Amino acid sequence: MGEHARLTLGDKDYELPRIKGAAGPDVLDVRKLYADADVFTFDPGFTSTASCESKITFVDGDKGILLHRGYSIEQLAENSSFLEVCYLLLNGELPNAADFVDFERTITYHTMLHAQFDRFFTGFRSDAHPMAIMTGAVGALSAFYHDSTNVDDPEQRKISAHRLIAKMPTIAARAYKYSIGQPFVSPRNDVTYAENFLRMAFSVPAEDWKPNPVLTRAMERIFILHADHEQNASTSTVRLAGSSGANPFACIAAGIACLWGPAHGGANEEALMMLNEIGSVDRIPEFIQGVKDRKYRLMGFGHRVYKNYDPRATVMQKTCHDVLDEVGDSDDPMLKVALELEKIALNDPYFVERKLFPNVDFYSGITLKAMGFPMTMFTVLFALARTVGWISQWKEMFEDPQRKLGRPRQLYTGPLQREYTPIDARG
Ligand code: CMC
Repeated sequence: MGEHARLTLGDKDYELPRIKGAAGPDVLDVRKLYADADVFTFDPGFTSTASCESKITFVDGDKGILLHRGYSIEQLAENSSFLEVCYLLLNGELPNAADFVDFERTITYHTMLHAQFDRFFTGFRSDAHPMAIMTGAVGALSAFYHDSTNVDDPEQRKISAHRLIAKMPTIAARAYKYSIGQPFVSPRNDVTYAENFLRMAFSVPAEDWKPNPVLTRAMERIFILHADHEQNASTSTVRLAGSSGANPFACIAAGIACLWGPAHGGANEEALMMLNEIGSVDRIPEFIQGVKDRKYRLMGFGHRVYKNYDPRATVMQKTCHDVLDEVGDSDDPMLKVALELEKIALNDPYFVERKLFPNVDFYSGITLKAMGFPMTMFTVLFALARTVGWISQWKEMFEDPQRKLGRPRQLYTGPLQREYTPIDARG
């Protein structure tokens, strides 16, 4: 018999089994609580709720540790490729050489979109935000790939996962090309995943495009850093949408919609806007005062789980320096503002007491801008990279025998039943 927590309500005791994971806090199993004791647990924002069991990603927010299938994000960013990380997240193990060749080939040969799909892009206004296009276009994949939407078939689940990972760069690049009025560039099968994306985003038919190895490596790293992050808001959205049996393309579209918000993936865009607005180092004290006066938040700082330096931010800061050196922008005033702002915030009691540290978004905006991306594309790149995390979590959910429709309850505080009054009788 395992350990239990005891809950006393009135004159009755209820035992809540305490379950240990491989790491992280134990959980109290409250699944029978409502049936046994007629009470719900109340946890808006899910700050104390484990919504599922998972073997994919582990975050220790106090120590600043992020593991994918047991491998640290630092090691993966240093040694691995994005497609290898995709294989790892999807399958649980790093691939051997033959498996990797096979996987890379599968993804590469799924990168093209149905020719009719291009009409979707032209249906949008040319000034549409690329995230709006992404949300619509990814949802529309379900209208084109019916043969992989049966969620009860493991083979179809696998094919849809491969299709999503493969087609996201093509969709993201088209969303960008459409927004700047340039022709779409087709994917190529003889280059890496990151290079293929950069080529589709930046090459034009009028001249040859040469990859820059430093920028390609930076893109690869940025994709790796964003690949998964356990049960964050967008991943939980994908799981919740998937719990009803909705098709994977629709579920990922839901995840993209959630990611768009400024408290989540939209923060990289907001962080760069903020650095832009501050403009110079001498304006930082005034800006910090505004944060303390609660006029606004320091974007790219703070995290629901990390109460220490976000390990992704460390790698991102290094990548940022590599990129700025490469493009000859190491004197970028925004980098100066960011470095100084970080230094001041890390020593200021307001941020220290609240354990607010830079997160992955603090340096990603400066890096992506230096690589040539407009701000509106930042969250799109996050979505592209996070797709593997979303679909791995979605796939894991279907492999879990305990899978249930997600259906939270509520603490109702509205009016009790009342009589309907006709409109002319209302005051
Ligand atoms: N700037 C100033 N104060 C902050 C910030 C910030 N960025 N973040 C939290 N605080 C304060 C907040 O005002 C509160 O203070 P008090 O206790 O005095 O009221 C305290 O810290 C706790 O804040 P919270 O909102 O309860 O914490 P949370 O865990 O719900 O917030 C967060 C997490 C990410 C929404 C928040 O830190 C935030 O808004 N950060 C800025 C947006 C951002 O960078 N988001 C990217 C997150 S990482 C990438 C991703 O996951 O998408």
